[in-house]
Amino acid sequence: MRISVIGCGYLGAVHAASMAELGHDVVGIDVDRKKVDALSEARTPFYEPGFQELLSRALASGRLRFSTDVADVAGAQLHFLCVGTPQKRGEYAADLRHVEDATESLIGVLGAGELVVGKSTVPVGTAARLAQLVADKVPGALLAWNPEFLREGFAVQDTLHPDRLVYGLPPGEDGDRARALLDEVYAPIVDRGTPQVVTDYATAEMVKTAANSFLATKISFINAMAELCEATGADVKLLADAIGYDDRIGRKFLNAGLGFGGGCLPKDIRAFMARAGELGADQALTFLREVDNINMRRRIRMVELAREVCDGSLLGKRVAVLGVAFKPDSDDIRDSPALNVAAQLQLQGAVVRVTDPAAIGNSRREWPQLDYADTAEEAAERADAVLVLTEWKQYRDLDPVAFGEVVARKRVLDGRNALDRDAWTAAGWAYRALGRRAG
Ligand code: UDX
Repeated sequence: MRISVIGCGYLGAVHAASMAELGHDVVGIDVDRKKVDALSEARTPFYEPGFQELLSRALASGRLRFSTDVADVAGAQLHFLCVGTPQKRGEYAADLRHVEDATESLIGVLGAGELVVGKSTVPVGTAARLAQLVADKVPGALLAWNPEFLREGFAVQDTLHPDRLVYGLPPGEDGDRARALLDEVYAPIVDRGTPQVVTDYATAEMVKTAANSFLATKISFINAMAELCEATGADVKLLADAIGYDDRIGRKFLNAGLGFGGGCLPKDIRAFMARAGELGADQALTFLREVDNINMRRRIRMVELAREVCDGSLLGKRVAVLGVAFKPDSDDIRDSPALNVAAQLQLQGAVVRVTDPAAIGNSRREWPQLDYADTAEEAAERADAVLVLTEWKQYRDLDPVAFGEVVARKRVLDGRNALDRDAWTAAGWAYRALGRRAG
């Protein structure tokens, strides 16, 4: 099938290359010339495991190209909208500017019988509004909403092997036509027996925000338990293991620590609250405000803990921060808890040296005043305290004995409950973590 993908960020670029991998003829459109040039030359504008190989393969097959000109979508039957919906400045609501712009420009070149497929995370009600716009301007063209659930670090896997397909469709025959086109584009995934949820626009839009709200709530739940563990001397990691054996609860997303960040969870729960307010249903989501509060408190607590281990003052203390991406296997620093803590430590007078296997470039652009090092050893040289804030494998695998040689004081703060406490304490380190007793 000939298809287009509008917006080539994390979501769109991976989606475009994945669709070419499935055998489609794909054009990816983005307004950012630099991004289009990079992608066209098989240079990945962001770090995502497996994406480089996928992109190179798709370009070599001749089935994938990129352009800044939306007119190049001509001839495509199906158009995926993959643009970002960031948080509005100074407000909780989502900024829909890119979705509006992309739809407007697409409408200018759209033909009857073609299908627009929204993948971006949008406030409930957006799809119905855009569908009306499309129907008014291009009779015979249709719109479907097909939310994406990909996780950074697993974007390729999640796109090619999603755990479900959700289609938000118009009613009646239009819905049948849209479904047939979606089933065709996802044929290998559908044929594998991937569960499908076929529904209306509002449900499809809400599935995405509800899923992210649930995940955020689960993380904040365990982090609230961590606060109580700190007050009682209980151990949050063992608590999570124990409750996680109950398969109604499950162990996934119960890792206590610095909490959630990134380009999705924080802004999605806020946009959801804002939308509920507009709909007069704000009471239903007031708990998400608490979820957000618990999450933000963890960052403050981490800075306090760092001050505690630095004998009550951060002034002039050398602090090494290992990990600055919002999660491992990503170079994304959007709303990164790790970067937030590193910046606060610096603002409070510590001499902060930061390292990360992938995110230093992005972080340096955002916070040039931090000191950056290429390796954990370099960052930790003569440090008074070491903070592990993103659980990259190379930090989890550090040898505490050898690593102890480079620091001034063997004090480690495990912001993600990712280190082997016994091994670190056996090597003479004072070990502190959120929700666990000092070791
Ligand atoms: C999330 C959703 O998982 C995905 O389905 C959606 O499409 C986009 O948003 P992502 O932002 O890539 O994906 O990251 P995710 O793996 O969900 O992690 C989000 C944050 O929660 C990270 O900062 C991570 O460190 C934190 N987290 C995750 C915890 O603090 N504890 C956990 O147990 C799990």
